[in-house]
Amino acid sequence: MASKNYILLLVSSLIYSITLGQSSIGMDNKVTHLLSQMTLEEKIGQMNQYNGFWEVTGPTPKEGNAKEKYEHLKKGWVGSVLNVRGVENVRKLQEIVVNESRLGIPLLFGSDVIHGYKTLAPIPLAESASWDLEAIKNSARIAAIEASATGINWTFAPMVDISRDPRWGRVMEGGGEDPFLGSAIAKARINGFQGSDLSANNTIAATAKHFAGYGWSESGREYNTTSVDDYTLYNVILPPFKAAVDSDVQTVMNSFGLYNGIPATGSSKLQRDILKDRWNFEGFVISDWASIKEMTLHGHTVDLKEAAEKAAIAGSDMDMESYAYIKHLKELVQEGKISEKLIDEAVSRILKVKFRLGLFEDPYKYCNETREQNLLYNEVHQKAALDIAKKSIVLLKNDNNLLPLQKGNKIAVIGDLADDKTSPLGSWRIGSDDETAISVLEGLDNLNIDYNYSRGCKLVEGKVEFTQEVIVNTTDKTGFEEAKSVAENSDIVIVVLGEHGFMSGEARSRTDISLPGLQQELLEEIRSVNSNVVLVLMNGRPLAIPWAEKNIPAIVETWQLGSQSGNAIAEVLTGKYNPSGKLPMTFPRSVGQIPIYYNQFSTGRQEKESHVFWSHYIDEENTPLWPFGYGLSYTEFEYSNMSVKTNNNGEVSASISLKNAGSSTGEEVVQLYIQDIKSSYVRPVKELKGFKKVSLAPGETQVINFSLAKEQLGYYTPEGKFVSETGEFNIMIGTNSQKLSTTKINIASFN
Ligand code: BGC
Repeated sequence: MASKNYILLLVSSLIYSITLGQSSIGMDNKVTHLLSQMTLEEKIGQMNQYNGFWEVTGPTPKEGNAKEKYEHLKKGWVGSVLNVRGVENVRKLQEIVVNESRLGIPLLFGSDVIHGYKTLAPIPLAESASWDLEAIKNSARIAAIEASATGINWTFAPMVDISRDPRWGRVMEGGGEDPFLGSAIAKARINGFQGSDLSANNTIAATAKHFAGYGWSESGREYNTTSVDDYTLYNVILPPFKAAVDSDVQTVMNSFGLYNGIPATGSSKLQRDILKDRWNFEGFVISDWASIKEMTLHGHTVDLKEAAEKAAIAGSDMDMESYAYIKHLKELVQEGKISEKLIDEAVSRILKVKFRLGLFEDPYKYCNETREQNLLYNEVHQKAALDIAKKSIVLLKNDNNLLPLQKGNKIAVIGDLADDKTSPLGSWRIGSDDETAISVLEGLDNLNIDYNYSRGCKLVEGKVEFTQEVIVNTTDKTGFEEAKSVAENSDIVIVVLGEHGFMSGEARSRTDISLPGLQQELLEEIRSVNSNVVLVLMNGRPLAIPWAEKNIPAIVETWQLGSQSGNAIAEVLTGKYNPSGKLPMTFPRSVGQIPIYYNQFSTGRQEKESHVFWSHYIDEENTPLWPFGYGLSYTEFEYSNMSVKTNNNGEVSASISLKNAGSSTGEEVVQLYIQDIKSSYVRPVKELKGFKKVSLAPGETQVINFSLAKEQLGYYTPEGKFVSETGEFNIMIGTNSQKLSTTKINIASFN
């Protein structure tokens, strides 16, 4: 039997290479040739994606059952599946379409490989705090290597949605609040996933999502409506998508929200005018989970059939879990409401991605059990995960150099999360197994650090499931007394607090972004018996913790750091690694300040007045708790001698001296911001336009150079036209978005 299958495989591979493989005739010809052989149903089938038969990452649709899906696979009416993984499962489905369907067009296997597969790197927001593009790229590379070894050839990542609202749980999945940093990270992640050769068996197609404006979900509530003005769209939301397209991203996922009153899934302006026409995007658009069907719930279409019509016309090429295309596209073509040409265009985009992946040459190229066995969770990947985990940690406060820990000190460790081996994996833990993260306690053990541990209180009640609400413990304080006594009898107390792994991520919005449950109270109680408190935060979003900022001498933001979490945290606490991360998102003082972000516009009443009529709150400061770009080190960095020059072409070169004035080697992220002081359209008070991460030995000085081309000084008008205007600019360089040296320049012309 095995040998018969093998021969079948060989023959089919041969047929692929002769008829469809990457031979001399160009890909366009092959696609045209293949299209000419396809029936309308088979074409529509390529635009149809089914969820795997056993797992969901969204609401389970009533339509479709395993038997029907199986029949559709055999007929070649399925272009792709999601959530099917493992070589054995992938091979099984691929064999059905390859051997049993008329044309044997291989399937794409999509999955949310967000920050790793079995080896988990830090959540994307955390990785973004590293500002280390090489490490981020490498992390995506490893994710692709592991995912591809399990048969996956397409990831629904990176999420490149800019967001200014930490109430929205999905900020954990993105690059933060800034379009410049977000664009650089989008590029790094795509290059990592897709590698330099998409047809290799260890690279996978990437997806830039969610096009566009999902990060603007009103009041931070998940799946809420969105309203974005065009000026913001072009200048803030679209740049990372544009960077993704320029990096050859193979697919773009549309979004649940609205754009100008039309669901993004049905927006021709977004998907056709901007993405496909203006940007020449050559891949295909995948809908978000049921986003075609939901157009009717938005009140935009009368039924699923009209939703299918509008989504296809608007440029959504593949249907994820709406069952709209498979049910209605044929009828719509027959009624003349949709042209077959439009279908051909969508299908050829999908087929081209399959060609580029090399699936026509070998549909089983990702199905290799040996790779699967050897590559998942291997040592090299764990090492890389540790490397980026350390780099993602942000030191927020360190009064009197309380950190790093001193030898001989008696250490207490408090907090449920210190002992948690699952929460650090985050909410997109995909192929990983629960309980596989190194906990903080284990990390300290691994470095032979002695401590006394007391939980203090449970963070949540019971075991939390991916699809279920988290129930936070708000009553059981029975562990408080023991924790206080352990703290009281120690020289220094490490308190590990924050969010359970399922308190951020999709469908995990919060109105209150303080420490959940009893943790704030626990922290205050501990602080009342010992003032040497180190607060180690674990969370998937910025938190509003003003009391801690005022009363706790040392605070370390560790996000959710993935498989190697505890080791990375222990290395930072002990000083084995000197922290170097910088915040990719502003931390507010209170929820009432949201949206709060550094690249805001000036108001007409910015300055503090002796009367009340200026832009402020009567009960809170305007400033954030910690600004964008902020992060400390165990060493001290001194900035001096800033110099800025412009030439006749309007190019700017800037430099600054950076000295490590402390006593340990450390890395600093030097940041450059600009302000276009007066322009036809008001520009932000600051815009990040460059950054460099450098490592300096104690006493070492380096001159850091930046150059800005004309493009970096321009912006988009609300019509989407890019303009560069002459005049005065502030050029600012420094350690974070608030602490900067400024030089004003005048650009007389751009040639
Ligand atoms: C999410 C997408 C994800 C998809 C498939 C949706 O609910 O919004 O980001 O890729 O599910 O899991």
